[in-house]
Amino acid sequence: MSKLARITAAVGAAMLAVGLLAAGATARTAAKQANVEACVLLPDTKSSARYELFDRPYLTKAFKAAGVPAIVNNAQGDAQKMRSQADDCVTNGAKVVLLDALDPGSGAAITNAVVAGGAKVIDYDRLVPGSKASYYVSFDNVKVGKLMGDGLVRALKADGKYSDHPTIVELNGGIADNNAKLFKQGYDSVLNPLYKKGTFKKGAAGDQWTDWDPQKGLTIFQQMLTRNGNKIDAAIAANDGLAGSVVSALKNAGLKPIPVTGQDATPTGVQYIIAGWQTGTVYKSVKAEAAAAAKAAIAIVKGGKVATNGKVSGTPSVLLTPVWVTKANYKLLFTDGFVKKSQVCVGTYKQYCK
Ligand code: BGC
Repeated sequence: MSKLARITAAVGAAMLAVGLLAAGATARTAAKQANVEACVLLPDTKSSARYELFDRPYLTKAFKAAGVPAIVNNAQGDAQKMRSQADDCVTNGAKVVLLDALDPGSGAAITNAVVAGGAKVIDYDRLVPGSKASYYVSFDNVKVGKLMGDGLVRALKADGKYSDHPTIVELNGGIADNNAKLFKQGYDSVLNPLYKKGTFKKGAAGDQWTDWDPQKGLTIFQQMLTRNGNKIDAAIAANDGLAGSVVSALKNAGLKPIPVTGQDATPTGVQYIIAGWQTGTVYKSVKAEAAAAAKAAIAIVKGGKVATNGKVSGTPSVLLTPVWVTKANYKLLFTDGFVKKSQVCVGTYKQYCK
């Protein structure tokens, strides 16, 4: 054999070996995934830190504890990706899919495909109204919004601004997210009567949807500041990511803190709360939500009954209670084991953790 032929043969053998290895790995993964019984479809990583920080670990743990093989996916904001993850779930034998949809259209299509494939869907956290989902597991989301509205009013009273006809703006979540509409319904039930009476003034361009995008939230809030000559006295921010946008804009403009709401009890949100930049956050125990959703999914897998405590848009639901967290009670997040002290009380924030 010539030298070239020898090299070619050696490379060929090596490539074959790699190919065989890869094929083996694929076969093993396929074999491993073939006995998946439950699947979770999480939406993204940008609209909130909650999905990777809380939902994934709590759901993984709950299924593991029950000995139910499960896969937790994250679609990274891509509805088409979520659809193919759903299809893989069904192909691999999932009997139930926990769906945290990106929007109602893709959510309904995914639900139809999963149901056609013989599995059941539980709407996880976000409801897809009118879909074929069997159950809905979430929080009382109108209450979530009400907590924000009440928290903002209380903060304005504490600041002595309540009687000065303060200017309020609202950074709403994603218009395609049913939850975001429920949150708005909640805080508007507190604020609308006050706007109407003239007690509060809604700022110019002061009520906008953000797609849950903190970058967009930042731009929108900066525009709100400009439109209102920097005179904004309080802001509804529908989650901690958007609260962060408000805080950044205020800091960039050299302005002082104002009452700002939030949601999700993220480490960054809690840091802003103890430092005085954010009034409060709505703590939704994702630990309890994941446990409730996994329990329902496991009942479906094992042919048991799912206990519900309500109905939303006709879907039998398990609804949990949210809690308003401020500087006064944030430590409950540590005692609940939801957020770690070491995630909050670090760097410049250490000084606020007494
Ligand atoms: C969730 C919130 C989250 C938001 C953005 C909502 O549907 O309930 O917890 O902050 O989506 O991801």
